[in-house]
Amino acid sequence: MTSGGGYGDSSQKIDYVFKVVLIGDSAVGKSQILARFARNEFSLDSKATIGVEFQTRTLVIQHKSVKAQIWDTAGQERYRAVTSAYYRGAVGAMLVYDITKRQTFDHIPRWLEELRAHADKNIVIILIGNKTDLEDQRAVPTEDATEFAQKEGLFFLETSALESTNVENAFTTVLTEIFNIVNKKNLVADDNNNGGQSGGNTNSGSSLSGKKIIIPGPAQVIPEKNRMCCST
Ligand code: GTP
Ligand code: MG
Repeated sequence: MTSGGGYGDSSQKIDYVFKVVLIGDSAVGKSQILARFARNEFSLDSKATIGVEFQTRTLVIQHKSVKAQIWDTAGQERYRAVTSAYYRGAVGAMLVYDITKRQTFDHIPRWLEELRAHADKNIVIILIGNKTDLEDQRAVPTEDATEFAQKEGLFFLETSALESTNVENAFTTVLTEIFNIVNKKNLVADDNNNGGQSGGNTNSGSSLSGKKIIIPGPAQVIPEKNRMCCST
């Protein structure tokens, strides 16, 4: 169990805390994607995760400070912690496969099913094809994943935790989308008469736009002082 401040953290005031979960088969690189994002670190002899860990990093989005609380669990069934606790309160999910292992991509629909069974139905989801540095071993064409993501209404990016390619972009895409949804909801809450004025401001500028999502309750944004801590 770890909880780090994350590089770039300071003791500034926090406007939002967003919980995001990482899921996908074992060895696709979930823990290394998180290490890259939270600490700008990478290890080639990363050990399989046992149970649940989370790390945080605070970013500024549209002049607000957003603390991303990223949860990581074992891809291996026998090491996984109780599923419902893992997904509770999550507003974002990163669904990771390894572009060199076809099977990890073929399992994505199962992960999506689990997510849809346990997580909030309005959760923002990004599909991630990791290990693009191993292009010569590629087993999943980009188009297959693009097509799948479009069909399922997911964001999609290919990353390399090793080379630090698109990792930042992947997190920013999810967090900005969540931020826009929450912000828009606040606007609507501030002015109920303006319900129809939904504006065109939810697009994060990613190559795929996610489906239109409205997060219903205030419970979806975890205020810093009330947030759930690390135990499961
Ligand atoms: P579990 O904890 O078992 O679910 O696995 P995981 O998805 O967390 O995988 P982990 O991050 O531990 O990475 C598995 C292996 O892949 C390690 O040897 C990593 O160094 C390696 N790896 C992770 N990301 C990359 C990447 O972008 N490129 C390359 N070449 N190797 C990577
Ligand atoms: Mg891991």
